[in-house]
Amino acid sequence: MKILITGGCGFVGTNIALFLSKKKYKVQSLDNLSRKGSRYNLSLLKKNNIKNYNLDIAKYNKIKKLPKYDLIIDCCAEAAVEVSRKQIDKVINTNLTGTLNILKKVKKDNSKIIFLSSSRVYPINSLNKIIKNKNIKKTLSVNKMINEMENTQGAKSIYGLTKLTSEMFVEEFSYAFNVKYLINRCGVISGPLQFGKQDQGFVSLWIWSHINKIKLDYIGYGGYGNQIRDVLHINDLCELISIQIKKFNQINNKLFTVGGSKKSYTSLKNLTAICEKITKNKIKIGKKTKTSIYDIPYYITNNNYVSKTYKWKPKKNIYNVVKDTYIWLSNNKKNLKKYF
Ligand SMILES: NC(=O)c1ccc[n+]([C@@H]2O[C@H](COP(=O)([O-])OP(=O)(O)OC[C@H]3O[C@@H](n4cnc5c(N)ncnc54)[C@H](O)[C@@H]3O)[C@@H](O)[C@H]2O)c1
Repeated sequence: MKILITGGCGFVGTNIALFLSKKKYKVQSLDNLSRKGSRYNLSLLKKNNIKNYNLDIAKYNKIKKLPKYDLIIDCCAEAAVEVSRKQIDKVINTNLTGTLNILKKVKKDNSKIIFLSSSRVYPINSLNKIIKNKNIKKTLSVNKMINEMENTQGAKSIYGLTKLTSEMFVEEFSYAFNVKYLINRCGVISGPLQFGKQDQGFVSLWIWSHINKIKLDYIGYGGYGNQIRDVLHINDLCELISIQIKKFNQINNKLFTVGGSKKSYTSLKNLTAICEKITKNKIKIGKKTKTSIYDIPYYITNNNYVSKTYKWKPKKNIYNVVKDTYIWLSNNKKNLKKYF
């Protein structure tokens, strides 16, 4: 089976590409290397004989000339929520026009698509309402878990809008042109090959900062670091996608919420404690009470539907995520410095 991975030099894309090529699929990548760190990941693809097409996903005249694939896994996006407020055109072109172009290509070649969506399709106000007090002084407990049926109406960031609209385009292409698809609506994903920054990839940033003794801040919700998110280990996602590919002909045209769920979640404060334990370093962490209008205090995925469908559930917890990422970062510290 021939597979194209868009965003194949990004964190998720590279991991999936390497994972699937070990399973003997013929994998290629499309990535314009715009993300810091993508050139490092490209070198790993090259070592594994995986070709990358250095193309802008927004240019259909280039996309349509690519070879024919059996399956396209769409992992290409400007993934930072904050960027979507500052560079609207860039985010629309990459995330929305990009997905549309991939759909046109899939339709033309009669191939299949797996689309990587995001928990950011849910409205910010609803997620804020889960937490009663804006200053979160105590560790939060996990009560609500979010599934496929949750309301998506309301402002969600322009990033979230592009992901929800892309999902809708996928469903429209399925309805009108019989394109077979799967959509994975993922919460935070983390692990090796992630080049984290403040507004995207906070787990990797936290570990890197501990390794290199760089000051961090708890931002928002009183600055106590008690906001919580689930974190899916990238290997667990790779395993799910591998099962999805194997069962694609029987199970398709479905949308799943996918995340670390109760198995793997953390507050920033707890993440600090894990980082201290693993790196044996303690760093200064400041307190900033104000946060971005796009920030959310809580997100935990309900995996029931995806678990029942594929008999899959995450195997790794937040400790495993930090440990595995730490091993990669510390072993390659010198080479990675320029990418953070
Ligand atoms: N990382 C997460 O926590 C997370 C959570 C939910 C959903 N997702 C989704 O998963 C997918 C992958 O995310 P990621 O974390 O690997 O992001 P990433 O930034 O690491 O990877 C995206 C890749 O796309 C490439 N790219 C960007 N614009 C491009 C363009 N115009 N043309 C071609 N290539 C371009 C970048 O160079 C980068 O390598 C995205 O669709 C994202 O929305 C990620």
